[in-house]
Amino acid sequence: MQTHLRGRDLIGDLDFSKEEVETVLDVAFDLKRKRALGELHPYLRDKVLAMLFFFSSTRTRGSFEAGMAQLGGHAAFIESKTTQIAHGDTPKEIGEIFGRYFDGIAIRHVDWGVGNGYLNAVAKHSRVPVLNMQCDIYHPFQILADLMTIVEKKGRDLRRKKMVVSWAYAASYQKPMSVPQSLVLQMPRFGLDVVLAHPPEFKLMPDIMEQAREQARRHGAGFEVVDDMEAAFKDADIIYAKSWGAMVHTPDADEGARIISKYKHWITDERKMALARPDAIYMHPLPADRNIEVTDGVIDSAQSVVYDEAENRMHVQKAVMALTMS
Ligand code: CP
Repeated sequence: MQTHLRGRDLIGDLDFSKEEVETVLDVAFDLKRKRALGELHPYLRDKVLAMLFFFSSTRTRGSFEAGMAQLGGHAAFIESKTTQIAHGDTPKEIGEIFGRYFDGIAIRHVDWGVGNGYLNAVAKHSRVPVLNMQCDIYHPFQILADLMTIVEKKGRDLRRKKMVVSWAYAASYQKPMSVPQSLVLQMPRFGLDVVLAHPPEFKLMPDIMEQAREQARRHGAGFEVVDDMEAAFKDADIIYAKSWGAMVHTPDADEGARIISKYKHWITDERKMALARPDAIYMHPLPADRNIEVTDGVIDSAQSVVYDEAENRMHVQKAVMALTMS
């Protein structure tokens, strides 16, 4: 167990070593058990977390807020538009000033080319941990919850299990690519053979791909990229299919939307799920575009673990907050 997490930021998935992630999982399982038994666990009594949102949220806000209360502290919801950020408060002011009021600063800022830089700029000036509630590059807490869910469903030894991280069609908006990027960085460290499937225009950031390949090499896991959703699904143990935007291919949002519309057949449906192993699980971070990105038949099936993933957000976040903010 690695115990030197007090005061640390979690902005990118690789900020914590594999051993530190294992510690987070151990603590998260303990906190989940305590909550199930009704055992109080006020590790952060009188501590306060600032939650600064530049983008909407259902799960992230709810799970951080509930988690802080269960740890004996409080979470302050701060919608960026209600602050003076538009009138001149810089990341330095947020880091310096919130760092003096609060015991941790959690931020969601997914604007392409902006969000991650903003979090790092706040962290540079903050005396308390900065936690990434999703930026344009990473969504580390989602992936910790996904890893916890996979361990619950498939066991601790994940070597030689095939995990498909697939692009999927969605019409609503160009979604951030932080989830697939965080998945390809974190999952190979735990031995999963990752197959990344996407149409040619939906490449991930080149330096993230290089780091993902390096993690796979270092941990003896497979890492393959294909452009065929059905071929990818064959014999998979885990299907994780969601939409993301074509931001690496083009910065033009209209062109991105036109490109997305070419790939309506990239939907997770019962026929494609049948190509995977019979005990394969279906994963999605939510929100999903139902019957566009994934059919009701799949997301509501016994193979779907989407609500366990959503629940586990709270347990892993409580673990990281208890370890970094105490
Ligand atoms: N998965 C996730 O981050 O959900 P929200 O956008 O609702 O927070």
